[in-house]
Amino acid sequence: MKDTLVMYFGGNHPANSTTKRAATSIADLTGADLFEIEPKYPYSTNDDVCVQEALRDLGANARPELARPVPNIEQYSTIILGFPNWCGTAPMPVFTALDELHQKGELAGKRIVPFVINGGAGRQKSIDDLEAAYPEANIDEGSGFVSSNYDDAVDLAIEWIQNKM
Ligand SMILES: Cc1cc2nc3c(=O)[nH]c(=O)nc-3n(C[C@H](O)[C@H](O)[C@H](O)COP(=O)(O)O)c2cc1C
Repeated sequence: MKDTLVMYFGGNHPANSTTKRAATSIADLTGADLFEIEPKYPYSTNDDVCVQEALRDLGANARPELARPVPNIEQYSTIILGFPNWCGTAPMPVFTALDELHQKGELAGKRIVPFVINGGAGRQKSIDDLEAAYPEANIDEGSGFVSSNYDDAVDLAIEWIQNKM
């Protein structure tokens, strides 16, 4: 599935991230390419501190710098976009990555299929916020997966994506 890119942000515990595990498994199983949205300055691994950092970035509508540029997406028709729900929406590094593509005019007509790993609140505002920011893309309504049971969330996300493609 080389017309598909799996792009994800692995939260503040990248090594143990449910989002990362689901994203890498989906890419492995489908043969899609994989890109990790990684902030240049990582968020705290202390969740309480990270919530404060995330609220600060959200309040400022910040675009935290990324560790590496987003690849050219010309060859892809679909982007599977994985991220954790942070404070009711997508983490701001996701907006940094999509802004890069938006500014280069590369999002027009692309299908974006979001999956949102969350602590129980679902997708909340994330899909609406993405749609408002990137009206030129075709953003699916996506789905949410609760991460409290790590393996279930990963398996369910894989199954869901496979049915979507
Ligand atoms: C900064 C921060 C904010 C969060 N805000 C929410 C939230 O608003 N709603 C929710 O359901 N879960 C929230 N969570 C829980 C995460 O979505 C959940 O732990 C998810 O598993 C994180 O994905 P990961 O395992 O890939 O890091 C938050 C977690 C963090 C660290």
